[in-house]
Amino acid sequence: MAQGFGAAIRGRHSPMDADDVRAAYQRQARTYDSLFGLVSRQARQEAIAAVNRLPAETVLEVGVGTGLALPHYNPEKRITGIDLSHHMLEQARERVAALGLHHVEALLEMDAQATSFPAASFDAAVAMFVASVVPDPHLLVRELRRVVKPGGTILFVNHFAREHGPIWWAERALAPASSLLGWHPDFRLGHIFTPADLATAKIRDLRPLGLFRLVELPN
Ligand SMILES: C[S@@+](CC[C@H](N)C(=O)[O-])C[C@H]1O[C@@H](n2cnc3c(N)ncnc32)[C@H](O)[C@@H]1O
Repeated sequence: MAQGFGAAIRGRHSPMDADDVRAAYQRQARTYDSLFGLVSRQARQEAIAAVNRLPAETVLEVGVGTGLALPHYNPEKRITGIDLSHHMLEQARERVAALGLHHVEALLEMDAQATSFPAASFDAAVAMFVASVVPDPHLLVRELRRVVKPGGTILFVNHFAREHGPIWWAERALAPASSLLGWHPDFRLGHIFTPADLATAKIRDLRPLGLFRLVELPN
């Protein structure tokens, strides 16, 4: 559920549940690509480029959404996409069929916090603009660590809130609208990563304006 303004000002992050997520993305499925899809385009491209540079063959994309990233993976990668939202997945399936994307092995309706994949199923996993949307980001990291092989890589691209400055104020002002937006503007690195994660992670600001950051976590 959306958090109150007071909690937002204190910088507390309160989760949306799975039904909030499904409802938010049912509303957005048809407009997503031309609205948020556009704002996030550059950062998504940088994340895909980072995936393409990995030696990984099997890649799990969690919160695959409308499948905006799918045409841009190197064709030798084998991509499995999962999402909670049936409506977003429908758009992704249409894209895969229309573009004949043979490197997409499966698109499945599944919760990224508790998948049905056996342990060590993938060489890499990527979560683009998902960390601040899932009901429990810690469960997300734990599940991705389980399904990615030891020695593999887990990538996150997301907006992570600043600790101070004008953007910090804007993030807190937007926070009460999180259920409507379908993501948390006041979501911080510490809401998802432990200090041990952060000690080994590579973190890079992305264009435009460092609004998004790419986090590469060795598994
Ligand atoms: C902001 S969209 C990002 C879509 C896509 N990754 C992109 O780059 O455009 C967030 C997506 O995460 C999905 N999502 C949220 N929580 C999820 C969960 N627990 N498991 C799987 N997908 C989830 C939403 O349904 C939505 O499609």
